[in-house]
Amino acid sequence: MTQIRNEENSRAAVMAVASGKGGVGKTNISLNLAICLAAAGQRIVLIDADLGLGNLDVIMNLNSRYNLSHVIDGRKTLDQITQIGPAGIEVICGGSGLENMANLSPFQHHRLISQFNRLQNRTDMIVIDTGAGIGQNVIGFCMAADHTLVVTTPEPTAITDAYAVIKILAGKKYPGRISLLVNMASSIEEGKKISRQIAQVAARFLATPIYEAGILCRDECLQAAVCMQKPVVLAFPKSPFSRGIRTLSHRLTNTSPMQTSGEGFFRKVVNWFF
Ligand SMILES: Nc1ncnc2c1ncn2[C@@H]1O[C@H](COP(=O)(O)OP(=O)(O)OP(=O)(O)O)[C@@H](O)[C@H]1O
Ligand SMILES: [Mg+2]
Repeated sequence: MTQIRNEENSRAAVMAVASGKGGVGKTNISLNLAICLAAAGQRIVLIDADLGLGNLDVIMNLNSRYNLSHVIDGRKTLDQITQIGPAGIEVICGGSGLENMANLSPFQHHRLISQFNRLQNRTDMIVIDTGAGIGQNVIGFCMAADHTLVVTTPEPTAITDAYAVIKILAGKKYPGRISLLVNMASSIEEGKKISRQIAQVAARFLATPIYEAGILCRDECLQAAVCMQKPVVLAFPKSPFSRGIRTLSHRLTNTSPMQTSGEGFFRKVVNWFF
């Protein structure tokens, strides 16, 4: 039933969620999308790659005592830091240890990469919630992913930053798919208009196709759910935001399989970081 996983190399497809501008909804979109995909039978891993200020654990009320930095320094295994979230999603908190990877011995390096390869081999999709900005720590994850979901809002500053992400990826000849999600729109029409404009500019000036992922309207239920530390798709499943996320989830499972490259995701992350 799944179209997400690339059956040829049997690895989870990887989707990075990025935006440039902060506070546009990346974390809530990543989390709620991961839950909907898992509820539809996919084996989903959600990685909080906001290495400085990750807050997935807060939105889900999870314990984030251990994170990737403990795996990198060898104190924990990937399995030991993986927490099971709603609908059985596996959640991995990033922490701020990735820069330490540069100091790893070849043996430690190999051990880390093989743990990630095992993870990618036994799951269907890895969703990466990146941080704000267009630094290497964000772009590196996008470049390593098969699909980058760029999130914007109708604010001109958010649009400019989303376009900046697209431009950087295009400049680096990103081989994956780029799609655009407009969040906090005041109407579907407004969102569609923005989406079309960005796609047109990217096609004209960057010769890069941008797929329309969808539109999510401003919805007070999301803020209420965040305050309750509950994912909105569980707290308010009938809210417009939750419905929009479910539509996005169906769209992702029903589109053609992504072209995942033969190389494991984490090895690519390492290549892009160091
Ligand atoms: N569609 C929406 N309707 C109403 N409020 C929203 C919507 N989307 C996001 N928000 C608000 O924006 C806040 C920030 O969302 P979120 O933390 O998901 O953004 P982010 O892009 O991950 O931020 P950061 O860049 O800091 O990681 C939410 O707590 C919520 O209050
Ligand atoms: Mg966030």
